[in-house]
Amino acid sequence: MAAALRTLFSTRHMLMLSLALNLSLMLKMIEEKSSPAESLIIMEKLQPKLIAEVSPSESTQQGRFEAPQPHFSAQETGDTPDDEDSIVNLDHGDPTMYENYWQQMGDRTTVVIPGWQFTSYFSVASNLCWFLEPELANEIIRLHGVVGNAITDGRHIVVGTGSSQLYQAALYAYTSSGASEPVTVVSAAPYYSSYPTATDCVKSSLFRWGGDARVYDGKGPYIELVTSPNNPDGFVRDSVVNRSGGILIHDLAYYWPHYTPITSPANHELTLFTVSKTTGHAGSRIGWALVKDPLIAKKMVKYIEVSTIGVSKDSQVRAAKVLKVVSDGCEGAGGSDKVECLFRYSHSQMTRRWMQLREAVKESGVFSLPEFSPRHCNFLEQSFGSLPAFAWLKCEDGIEDCESFLRRFKIVTRGGRHFGVGPSYVRVSMLDRDRTFNLFVRRLSKIHR
Ligand SMILES: Cc1ncc(COP(=O)(O)O)c(C=O)c1O
Repeated sequence: MAAALRTLFSTRHMLMLSLALNLSLMLKMIEEKSSPAESLIIMEKLQPKLIAEVSPSESTQQGRFEAPQPHFSAQETGDTPDDEDSIVNLDHGDPTMYENYWQQMGDRTTVVIPGWQFTSYFSVASNLCWFLEPELANEIIRLHGVVGNAITDGRHIVVGTGSSQLYQAALYAYTSSGASEPVTVVSAAPYYSSYPTATDCVKSSLFRWGGDARVYDGKGPYIELVTSPNNPDGFVRDSVVNRSGGILIHDLAYYWPHYTPITSPANHELTLFTVSKTTGHAGSRIGWALVKDPLIAKKMVKYIEVSTIGVSKDSQVRAAKVLKVVSDGCEGAGGSDKVECLFRYSHSQMTRRWMQLREAVKESGVFSLPEFSPRHCNFLEQSFGSLPAFAWLKCEDGIEDCESFLRRFKIVTRGGRHFGVGPSYVRVSMLDRDRTFNLFVRRLSKIHR
């Protein structure tokens, strides 16, 4: 039988058959479930895939939008097998959703570093931030200019090992002149769960965690952390402690157009950003601060000098390349449908995920979610409501401990108490891989009372 088939169909016939099947499968995908942006991406994928199948050696690597080639097994990536016993872990805000985009970008962000390069501690020894690689500084300034989300003129850039290190550096910078009492650090609840632990970790005599800024009524010096949009609930925020003499640190990790409308360029004393949530490169551990006051910037540099003698140059160069590719893809992409722009692509991903989640919540009837009014985004040139990196889910129907409740369905989340509020809330990451996210919404929709 097999021999008979072989005589009927030559290798060339089989190849043509495979091409036809591929083409019809992709057209079906486009027809069934794609937004216009996604359809474009699938169309982009289509051509090189066909070429590759006819002649693998002739396909080029550079900038090819093709089906992602996973580098890891399901086990290594933490992907959840699709069965009812699997645990859906959305506790951390690990931005693995972005792998897909970067895989499709092929070699555009590949960085090769010869062994002799970046052996010195120093980048530009005479600069205020002597360990900041100039190409990273340039790409940070360029990207903020392209997106319009922060003023960089008249600011000093301090690079850190993630914005987590810059947070510590900023606390040190503002308090190291040494008051008689530790300076109180507050943030409006629900606040980012790492702030209390990061503040009190080494039990510093310079500063201490003071909890919810809304109830803070101390008389001494204080620092208020303003996270906007906020982790965990996604709302755009301003400071809440209404008195003079306070210091503000703005953590704008999520002030990017895939999460929230860009309404004006941020113009604060000290602002923190991170590649972790901008491009998904959390593993590179690169963050930056835009600092007005040169004395504060100098003290932050001092802290980083003392704690880690600078920041990995390898990581900075990689981050610079990634930011450059983002700016190249997004420059002038405002009102267009240029899907290669990271922010456009991720915005459409986030829109789809939030729609899926809201559908699941409706179907279940046990939970509620925050609502976000649409605002005009100057970068994307359209109005939309925020699409936060975390879902701030509330258990209704008298379910008091939402985290434990969801664990019964093998869904791991972070409970409200970590964020300074009650246990009826949980935070759920919206940035995991498609497979995990899809499993989550499917499971959530089936939870009924
Ligand atoms: C508000 C906020 N700030 C800072 C960070 C930490 O960023 P990085 O990875 O740069 O240390 C996170 C991470 O989840 C965050 O949510």
